[in-house]
Amino acid sequence: MSIRVRLLLSYSCILIVTIVLFLAAALLFVVAITGDVRSVKDFYNIHYSVNPLSEQEETIFLDLKYLAKNEPDSLLDHTLLNQYNYKLRSVQAELVIRKGNEAIYSSLSVKQPQFITFLPDYEMENNAIRNTLQIGDHFYAYAKFDFRFPDQSKGSVLVVRERSPFAEVVRTLLPIILGVLFIVLLLMNMLLYYFLTRSIIKPLDLLRKSTERIKEGDLEFELQAVGSDEIARLSEAFEDMRMKLKQSVEKQLQYEQNRKELVANITHDLKTPITSIKASIEGIRDGVPDTKQKMERYVNTILTKAEHMDQLIDELFLYSKLDLKQLPFTFEEISLGQFIEDYAEDLQFDLQDKGVALTWDIVHSESTNVLADRDKLKRVLTNIMDNAMKFMLDEPKQIGISLSVETDFVRLMISDSGSGISEEALPFIFERFFREDLSRSQQTGGSGLGLAITKQIIEGHNGSIYAESKLGAGTSMIIKLPLARSIGGRT
Ligand SMILES: Nc1ncnc2c1ncn2[C@@H]1O[C@H](COP(=O)(O)OP(=O)(O)OP(=O)(O)O)[C@@H](O)[C@H]1O
Ligand SMILES: [Mg+2]
Repeated sequence: MSIRVRLLLSYSCILIVTIVLFLAAALLFVVAITGDVRSVKDFYNIHYSVNPLSEQEETIFLDLKYLAKNEPDSLLDHTLLNQYNYKLRSVQAELVIRKGNEAIYSSLSVKQPQFITFLPDYEMENNAIRNTLQIGDHFYAYAKFDFRFPDQSKGSVLVVRERSPFAEVVRTLLPIILGVLFIVLLLMNMLLYYFLTRSIIKPLDLLRKSTERIKEGDLEFELQAVGSDEIARLSEAFEDMRMKLKQSVEKQLQYEQNRKELVANITHDLKTPITSIKASIEGIRDGVPDTKQKMERYVNTILTKAEHMDQLIDELFLYSKLDLKQLPFTFEEISLGQFIEDYAEDLQFDLQDKGVALTWDIVHSESTNVLADRDKLKRVLTNIMDNAMKFMLDEPKQIGISLSVETDFVRLMISDSGSGISEEALPFIFERFFREDLSRSQQTGGSGLGLAITKQIIEGHNGSIYAESKLGAGTSMIIKLPLARSIGGRT
């Protein structure tokens, strides 16, 4: 059963129960006031039947009517009349005996002095026995019987009951009031049902549709939660889930794409040296190198290509280990300033031989202690230096190292005066297998894994690396490593 039907049923139930309870309360109210279950019927009769008197009043009236018909002179007996009146008053009614134009007996509680003048005329056929009359603000219901006294004068016996004007109004309007109340109740229920279904069913419907869209693989939509109720929170949670799912799907697709590229790149990079090794071996087999020098060239080619493949495989292995976080880091607190200075001093003369001037500017004023893995950090420096050397073709060849301390990290910058990197290529240089100029890098060698490995290592140190470069104006690699004191690593 749907929630909509359930709500409809529960509202109908509430409506029915309300009406039943209302009626029961009204019944109990009447019983409590009149003290008699049968009086409920009388209550109805009093207000709605042609007979305006209750059953008890009617019985007394019939007795009096019998007396009027058969023993009219007994209606002149005040003791007897007092007895009847007493009975009538116990049910809030009054007795009036009229003789001629005079009330010869009237209960004391009929307060209107001119009451007699308002009484209906004699009507000896007694066709209209029961009726109501109004005197000023007072309403009376009565039963009247006209007869003749033994002296032939006209007489009337009246059983009168006063009614409040309110009761009179209610009497005429009650069906309408009840109808209006019922319609109001019905309308209220319908409105409640409408608003409740709108605030529950509509968002639920939206959620269901969204789930179906996700089921069909569509994640390109937004579910907006309205309000702050439980359903809105559910919608928010759903939207969060959709976003996470979308991100993970995108990531998955990206991984898949990367994997394909990786396989294609590895295949290409391994295939090229193997082709040239194969060609050289075939040449040797066919006796192409006929001199010792030629033979040496062939063998050297094979060796270089084999070494290149070996290096590529090593780099690939290192990269994948770093990528899978399978390569443990051995961190120790080192002074980066000292470490770089030692590295630069070691390298200085080597570079000088190659015509490259190495300069460094390292701060010693403040502690440059970082948590680092010495070997891996050396690997980072080597990769960057290799690149600087590799892509520095024109004089003057210069490499500068600078180290400064900022709030909670050290900033290491290695700049070269090389060819620089184009603006389009700059964002991709840290991606694996990326080489800006394939034809050039075939001469320079390299797989495009150097900076990818560098980045993995720096990130393994909770640091960051980026490059600043302009074509023809050199390149700067900037590394930021968190200071040991900022991560509480000082021992
Ligand atoms: N200092 C630099 N000057 C000019 N271009 C650079 C520099 N450093 C990196 N690049 C560019 O970024 C690319 C990626 O560098 P990366 O070190 O990852 O690969 P590689 O040097 O080509 O190969 P590998 O380092 O694996 O031998 C290079 O091919 C080059 O195009
Ligand atoms: Mg490199």
